[in-house]
Amino acid sequence: MGVVGVLTAGGDCPGLNAVVRGVVSRATERDAEVVGLRDGWEGLMRDRTVKLDRDAVRGILGRGGTILGTSRLDPYVHGDGLASCQDTISRIGIDRLIVIGGDGTLRSAMGLANEGLNVIGVPKTIDNDIVGTDTTFGFATAVQIATDAIDRLATTAEAHNRVIVVEVMGRTKGWIATHAGIAGGADYILIPEIPYDIEQVADVLRRRHRGGHRYSIVVVAEGLEAPAGYQALDLKRDAFGFERLGGVGYQVADAIEQLTKFETRVTVLGHVQRGGTPCASDRVLATRLGVAAADMAIDGLTNVMAGVQGTEVVPVPLEVATSGIRGVPDDLYATARTFFG
Ligand code: F6P
Repeated sequence: MGVVGVLTAGGDCPGLNAVVRGVVSRATERDAEVVGLRDGWEGLMRDRTVKLDRDAVRGILGRGGTILGTSRLDPYVHGDGLASCQDTISRIGIDRLIVIGGDGTLRSAMGLANEGLNVIGVPKTIDNDIVGTDTTFGFATAVQIATDAIDRLATTAEAHNRVIVVEVMGRTKGWIATHAGIAGGADYILIPEIPYDIEQVADVLRRRHRGGHRYSIVVVAEGLEAPAGYQALDLKRDAFGFERLGGVGYQVADAIEQLTKFETRVTVLGHVQRGGTPCASDRVLATRLGVAAADMAIDGLTNVMAGVQGTEVVPVPLEVATSGIRGVPDDLYATARTFFG
């Protein structure tokens, strides 16, 4: 039945191992061989591989990270596309490739498919921002971790009569901020998709504290623009060329403290949102995507990703998946706004 190559690329995400287990189990069931490529595209470009069978994926369902390793090295940014992967592909006899990654990775997957390789994508990101799929695995886990953090921060904020700004991940979109903010009962949520006026945020908090509340929680998405009067942060870039976001929460907190005179502290949650075991719903989703991706690869589909649409997992053209970045819809943010203050 041929050889299926599988790799995990870009930032890690809870549920990656569950996808790999799903791919290997279904492929094995259908008599296909699976070879893992180590450390993302690097494995394919530098010929670092591992044979994957059912024994190799035993016990990994609930494990965080990825047994294959990951990196941000990319065949189009750091090589010349398919040609830079050809040696490994020929040596192993890989005739179908399953690529588990975010928008940058899926773009490169589409490049290889356009050059003639049979490629299936699996959308992966805690940011939940990929077009063509209703959700991504890892997102639910990240939201739960951020919500737990908000719950904890609320009790210490209340004890000390403070405002606490919680900065969460999400890159240029505010999915984690909006969901965790709603789930944690945040008093304000600031996301890149919705322009904001920091004076108005301060007004809402002042009104809340005048009304007898001793504390406030403000959730800030890491990709937010700096508040008026503050310079955009000078950020480093990663190997894909993406900005390494983080720190805008400090600017928001500084502005709030200056405007309200309430003591304001900051917690930047960072990579804790990506680490550790995936929650149950992410394990199920990741398993379904892995199994579906194996089926799509073995059935001869290419240039598509396994996406969730409603209750189904369906093939979605990579051209659609890479056509933009999916933001938080206005009506969801309007629901969150109902609870501000
Ligand atoms: O895309 C997932 C993500 O966790 C973003 O939310 C975040 O901005 C970025 O990756 C962090 O990447 P790195 O691990 O390279 O710092």
